[in-house]
Amino acid sequence: MTDFQPYQTPQSCALVIFGVTGDLAHRLVIPSLYNLAEVKLLPEQFCIVGVARRGMSNDALRGSLMKGLHEFATRPVDDKIANRLLECVTYAEADPSDPASFDRLKERLEQLEAARNTGGNRLFYLATPPGAFASIARQLGRVGLVKEDHGAWRRLVIEKPFGTDLASARALNAELLSILDERQIYRIDHYLGKETVQNILVLRFANGMFEPIWNRHHIDHVQIIVDEKLGVGHRGRFYDSTGALRDMVPNHLFQLLSLIAMEPPARFDAHNVRSGKDEVLSAIQIQSEEEALKNSVRGQYTAGKIGETEIPDYRKNPDVRPDSTTETYVAMKLKIDNWRWAGVPFYLRTGKALAMKRTEVAIKFCEAPFAMFRCTPVERLAENYLVIGIEPTEGITLQFNSKVPGPTIRISGVQMNFRYRDYFKVEPATGYETLIYDCMIGDNILFQRADGIEAGWRAVQPFLDAWKKACAKGLEFYPAGSKGPPGACELLKRDGRRWRKL
Ligand code: BG6
Repeated sequence: MTDFQPYQTPQSCALVIFGVTGDLAHRLVIPSLYNLAEVKLLPEQFCIVGVARRGMSNDALRGSLMKGLHEFATRPVDDKIANRLLECVTYAEADPSDPASFDRLKERLEQLEAARNTGGNRLFYLATPPGAFASIARQLGRVGLVKEDHGAWRRLVIEKPFGTDLASARALNAELLSILDERQIYRIDHYLGKETVQNILVLRFANGMFEPIWNRHHIDHVQIIVDEKLGVGHRGRFYDSTGALRDMVPNHLFQLLSLIAMEPPARFDAHNVRSGKDEVLSAIQIQSEEEALKNSVRGQYTAGKIGETEIPDYRKNPDVRPDSTTETYVAMKLKIDNWRWAGVPFYLRTGKALAMKRTEVAIKFCEAPFAMFRCTPVERLAENYLVIGIEPTEGITLQFNSKVPGPTIRISGVQMNFRYRDYFKVEPATGYETLIYDCMIGDNILFQRADGIEAGWRAVQPFLDAWKKACAKGLEFYPAGSKGPPGACELLKRDGRRWRKL
């Protein structure tokens, strides 16, 4: 998002946002559209139809979106651009439990399309709670709004969570694919909107030096870390029925894993890149429930302090069951069954209410084969890591050993650091700009395909099943503001390894 000028302007279209009164539309969708408007990357002829279940006037909706924009914009808001954008917004009412409302929506949309001359291209964005995805898609299908005709495209954007387990994800895919073609469906994982995540492909495949050592002969293991400082806050109800595993692993952490572990695609296009990612997800070893218990750690935070902020016990959250066994932290060990990765463990961890925010992938290379430098005991040599920093550090770090200047050989660990901000002028963005833009230009490289989603759920299903049976047994507690449950360190220690220290 540094300079969009060389990019194509999307074709004229209507953007129909379901759940327009909700948090997502206010916090991310509208601020991203604003950022796109600012760099002139919205279609010439454009209209936004905001759909919700309760009645509202156009002015009230525009006012509320403008307020949200001022609150959540990533850059100073130019009122001229904001007003021009919000003038495109029209309110419409539709409720999947009232099928006739979709017939009325169709009529309304067709009128707007004619008035705005959008050429019949439509992007339906489901920014609703996940329970509504299938029923909205069914109604859109029934009234013919997503049927492509007269050369116009029709696309559907779906937010996460996509299902709650393998069976529900399969059912949702089946339902959607009975209404739309796969190429019309854009399943969002906002991690793919992050520059640092997209850069993994460039780092691996636009440079000749990494690929020859990117395998089990040279890589000892991989760590994927998504530590969060925030607790569950006002999302208690959603979170308590979801947990850290479902919320983060089959989607965000697996996106990182698949980009790190995939084979080089033959071409940089949606088909090849997504096939490569999905193939590696399908190669994750499916563990028995017994193995899943052995190879995972669940934690739940108790009261604590992060900086100056007091964080209440997870179970004291008003929307959380007082005896909840939902995990707010998960660490797990996975293996990938293919020639490149056989025997290389992938350690994943993510949790809430931790001491610090840290999202990174750390590739740990094998040690030098013998300790030639006897002056430095091998355990004191710095470990060789290539670290891909996603947040808050955006960059790449290479950690290696170097001679300390002086008459004798003394060795110390050093780092070479690349930081995005040192090379590129990056305008602050929500991370959704690229994703929404890609939906409008019809590029689904950054979106998940049905088979990838199902492969992800397949790999985590044994963990879900095993934990459900184990109930409270094995759940560890950690104070908010700490590093997480002690078992997470044990998981690596057992293998003679440890999490990368900062
Ligand atoms: C969301 C999860 O998908 O991702 C949240 O539902 C989580 O629980 C968030 O906090 C993390 O995203 P990021 O971009 O802050 O790492």
